[in-house]
Amino acid sequence: MTGRSFVIAIDGPAAAGKGTLARRLADHFGYALLDTGLLYRAVGRRVLDRGGNPSDPLAAGAAARALRPENLDDPRLRLDEAAGAASKVAAIPEVRAALLDFQRGFAAHPPDGKRGAVLDGRDIGTHVCPNADAKIFVTASVEVRAERRVKELRERGLDVIPSAVLQDMKERDARDSSRSIAPLVAAADAFVLDTSSLDADGVFAAALQYVALRNPTGA
Ligand code: DC
Repeated sequence: MTGRSFVIAIDGPAAAGKGTLARRLADHFGYALLDTGLLYRAVGRRVLDRGGNPSDPLAAGAAARALRPENLDDPRLRLDEAAGAASKVAAIPEVRAALLDFQRGFAAHPPDGKRGAVLDGRDIGTHVCPNADAKIFVTASVEVRAERRVKELRERGLDVIPSAVLQDMKERDARDSSRSIAPLVAAADAFVLDTSSLDADGVFAAALQYVALRNPTGA
């Protein structure tokens, strides 16, 4: 890669549509994509697999330092068990510190010579890449997000209780937003995109319009 990497930071709560948007923007611009939630899920999964407690700083810190890129390919990381453990390890400072260098390195030097990177998570625009060229905070009401999650799980053939999914979503939101380190909050200079009444195409169009203003050359 020649020149500085163009960085797009996408943050927001679970099931707001961050992942889909991040993938579409990365494809559109030919940028590298990093789903940072997967890092926390892999740390949580590793602790569980070793019979540890995801809230234990020693176990979680060791799991974060031992994390290897191949750990991110585990299909179990998509399941709610890993998500629950992720939101616990994510509150531990040692874990966040161990994952910070990897995320910053990815943004500054995207793999495969790509000219830019899209990172999606909770604290990308506020902590990981405070100087990102474009910052989007994707959100939606907790009810809409829980509904989307129920639909997604049913499409995967899973039997779900909507009220339990809503409750779980509220608990995760509370943990992500109230933790003392890198809580979920929109960066002051982020473009806030409420997706409650938009479909994926509408979200992409709105985001693209914003990014184009930040990146007039399309570089
Ligand atoms: O986006 P996700 O559901 O895969 O994230 C899993 C958990 O990881 C979520 O509870 C919040 C945490 N997380 C975080 O604290 N910081 C990030 N940059 C990404 C995810």
